[in-house]
Amino acid sequence: MQKIKIKYVCTNCGFESPKWLGKCPDCGSWNTFSEEKVSKTKNNQQTSLNIKPVKITDIKIETEERIITNIGEYDRVMGGGIMKNSITLVGGDPGIGKSTLLMQVADKINKTVLYVSAEESANQIKQRANRTNINNEHLYVLTSPEVEIIIEKIKELKPELVIIDSIQTIYLSSLENSPGTVTQIKECAQTLIQEAKSKGFCLIFIGHVTKEGNIAGPMVLEHMVDTVLFFEGDKNLNFRIIRSLKNRFGSTNEIGVFQMTESGLVEVKNPGEFFLSDEMEEVNGSVVTAVMEGSRPILLEVQALTTKNNFGIPQRVATGFDLRKLSIIVAVLEKRLNLKLSTANIFINMVGGIKIDDPAADLAVCCGIISSFLNLNVKSKIVVVGEIGLSGEVRAVTDINKRISEAEKLGFETIYIPKQNFKNIEKKFIINVIPIKNIKDITKDIFYSN
Ligand code: TYD
Ligand code: MG
Repeated sequence: MQKIKIKYVCTNCGFESPKWLGKCPDCGSWNTFSEEKVSKTKNNQQTSLNIKPVKITDIKIETEERIITNIGEYDRVMGGGIMKNSITLVGGDPGIGKSTLLMQVADKINKTVLYVSAEESANQIKQRANRTNINNEHLYVLTSPEVEIIIEKIKELKPELVIIDSIQTIYLSSLENSPGTVTQIKECAQTLIQEAKSKGFCLIFIGHVTKEGNIAGPMVLEHMVDTVLFFEGDKNLNFRIIRSLKNRFGSTNEIGVFQMTESGLVEVKNPGEFFLSDEMEEVNGSVVTAVMEGSRPILLEVQALTTKNNFGIPQRVATGFDLRKLSIIVAVLEKRLNLKLSTANIFINMVGGIKIDDPAADLAVCCGIISSFLNLNVKSKIVVVGEIGLSGEVRAVTDINKRISEAEKLGFETIYIPKQNFKNIEKKFIINVIPIKNIKDITKDIFYSN
């Protein structure tokens, strides 16, 4: 009897090993190895003897052609529409709105689109289409999980865009592995990508995230596609943020903001004030900052809460903010302002569940912690912007004029900015612009004492 060969594959990065390992030597994640059958891979190498090196001076750039979806926020994260012949991966939690978004994208472009659903029936898809008022002659639905059949139908239909919902549920029947395994995901994606490249259509894969927050086999897919989009934000709130984590054809900083409504996702064209609470009176622990998301400034409320820790190690919890960064800020506050934070639990929250890595939010986190810890209310209608250095200095940030303009537009009265940025101000603003050099300078200014 023939022995079935087994290999172990890291579901995070695709690393293969003949025996089970607790920790992946390649990507360092724990407990991610799963057993898979070794399948005979066909030799994909084509005889490419006719391919010759070309002088760089002889290479002509084909005119860049993009399919504009007319969903502005989607076009924006894609870098100005879907690039012809590009491969995209859209990842996110189950139920966050991936299928809804891509149905809407499929509807908006006036070209033949094949929507392959391997998880839902045609009925379920029609119900979603009805909710979102989609009834487009160009949109075809195929409910088959088998890649061989999908390719057959692509040949017949000749679509310009193919959407695969989802990459984890389709399979190549020539492989023995079950759908969702790294081997299947990799091979299915590879096969479809080859097809897309040779036929010239655009391909979008939908991928679910695992509970650790990774797309299953993410590294594998990440390297195979041109663009990776990811749904951010809280499923329980009614808005959705789409961020591009990789984009060969555009910036990776841009986000698209949508609102989930009764009839699908609706763009939020001007998200400037979307991340502020409704009531922006003087509040304890809440400070507004202006962060850049790609080319757009967004005013964001940072909330901080400190409580006394009675026993054990104090908690440090940050939602939407880097925990290591929080530790540094806490250390700076302890050392430079003499705050006894070592016995305090500290919680930080970015309103709206948005993830911030713009260092300009540091100062707001500082002010929030001070406000909550010393029980001082922050004055209303102020914005603080600045990165914090280890000696408590407030460091310069990018795009200062855009940040000031947005704060002014939304009716704030005063903005505190790094002193180093002061010379970059291009015009006279109505909003009060106050330079600060060190966190010590801000404390007396922005709080009311109780
Ligand atoms: P869905 O696109 O199916 O999510 P995913 O493909 O990422 O798993 O959308 C899931 C949720 O969105 C579902 O709970 C219902 C909600 N929804 C609306 O609120 N309005 C709508 O118009 C639609 C189509 C869905
Ligand atoms: Mg879905």
